[in-house]
Amino acid sequence: MQQKWSPSGWRTRPAKHIPSDYPDSAHLERTEETLRTYPPLVFAGEARNLQARLADVAAGKAFLLQGGDCAESFKEFHPNNIRDTFRALMQMSVVLTFAGAKPVVKVARMAGQFAKPRSEATETKEGVTLPSYRGDNINGMDFTPEARTPDPERLLKAYGQSAATLNLIRAFAQGGYGDLHNVHRWTLGFVADSPQGKRYRELADRISEALDFMAACGITPESTPQMRQVDVYTSHEALLLGFEEAMTRIDSTSGDWYDTSAHFLWIGDRTRALDGAHVEFARGVKNPIGMKCGPSLEADDLLRLIDALNPANEPGRLTLIARFGAEKAAAGLPKLVRAVMREGRNVVWSCDPMHGNTLKTASGYKTRPFDRILSEVETFMGALPAEGAYPGGVHVEMTGAQVTECLGGAAEITEDTLSDRYHTHCDPRLNGQQALDLAFLIAERLRGVRENGRRAANA
Ligand code: PEP
Ligand code: CO
Repeated sequence: MQQKWSPSGWRTRPAKHIPSDYPDSAHLERTEETLRTYPPLVFAGEARNLQARLADVAAGKAFLLQGGDCAESFKEFHPNNIRDTFRALMQMSVVLTFAGAKPVVKVARMAGQFAKPRSEATETKEGVTLPSYRGDNINGMDFTPEARTPDPERLLKAYGQSAATLNLIRAFAQGGYGDLHNVHRWTLGFVADSPQGKRYRELADRISEALDFMAACGITPESTPQMRQVDVYTSHEALLLGFEEAMTRIDSTSGDWYDTSAHFLWIGDRTRALDGAHVEFARGVKNPIGMKCGPSLEADDLLRLIDALNPANEPGRLTLIARFGAEKAAAGLPKLVRAVMREGRNVVWSCDPMHGNTLKTASGYKTRPFDRILSEVETFMGALPAEGAYPGGVHVEMTGAQVTECLGGAAEITEDTLSDRYHTHCDPRLNGQQALDLAFLIAERLRGVRENGRRAANA
């Protein structure tokens, strides 16, 4: 029996990674009250549409692409950054659609991805110890006591930035920029001359030819307005539950609770305790939910978590995001997939090849080797079909910008060149070139899955 649920029920549960050191708790409460009166960022009907698209993924009929910053920041807030990440997502999506011959469900890790769980509560530099940076909606990155003190006003600023970001994403997606006829215009300047850029151009040429053919048959954006539009959904980790609670409203159409801060919310690997605050919150909102699955998750616990988060076994409701690390995936992932298959649980399986592959260089940069990222994706794309399951998606930290944060890739970023354009506010991201490279690799594997499926059907 499921217990009664309310948006504030999480407050009675152990809550990890939620700051308790706001100097003025009345100020925080007032700010949360203000947020309750602000307009929703997304609508329940949109979240339901996304769940239907994710149900297609669960059934092996579509592929999920989720990507964006590790942490959005006030400093990097700029239309060009939003546009470039949008473009990189569109390019990846074209590659995946073309190869997999399946629709790609596009979910941006944008318009609300601020709060971060941190391994260490404090940071020490030259003998000075201060609270860790926890994301721009909580405190500041500068290493000063003032910046590191949580400030409730940051919640309002993050809300405003999310609204503006979402507005631009909607404009790009619905206003014509996402039209497939723009397939050549999404090429990022610095990617154009790379080997991936060339490969992409060839593919884009073929798409343009197909569109010309369709136009000759009378199918144009004018006759078929859907061609001008694309659906791009938003997502973030539902970590800072006071904010999520304030954004949670009853949908007048269905009478259900929806967290209107984003279409899709996920629970992080550090906060997925069955009796913890984050699972308690997520189980009651009707949005599609994700949960990170790392090496410490046992199959029995996973099944209990699935029971709590998706008791009706609804397809598209729950996405399991595997993030084991290249070395641990082969041993850890199949056990979980087997248990889920055995119990007949309907989930989407997605692969986050970023969070298990982070390391620190001798000079102190947090980075991720691109070949390890590729290797974890390869393991995932092989292990799921081996257990009779569908490798349904990928979840990446990426940007369209030409950053140097992950080692390797075609641009051969080395430990020495990491410092050239290392801009991230938290974890290292794939740059536009590396993201496109990854898309080509997944596309090849997806084609393999498709061809094997076809052979099995004909056998
Ligand atoms: C993240 O996605 O930024 C994150 C912190 O991931 P995880 O919970 O898997 O460590
Ligand atoms: Co991260």
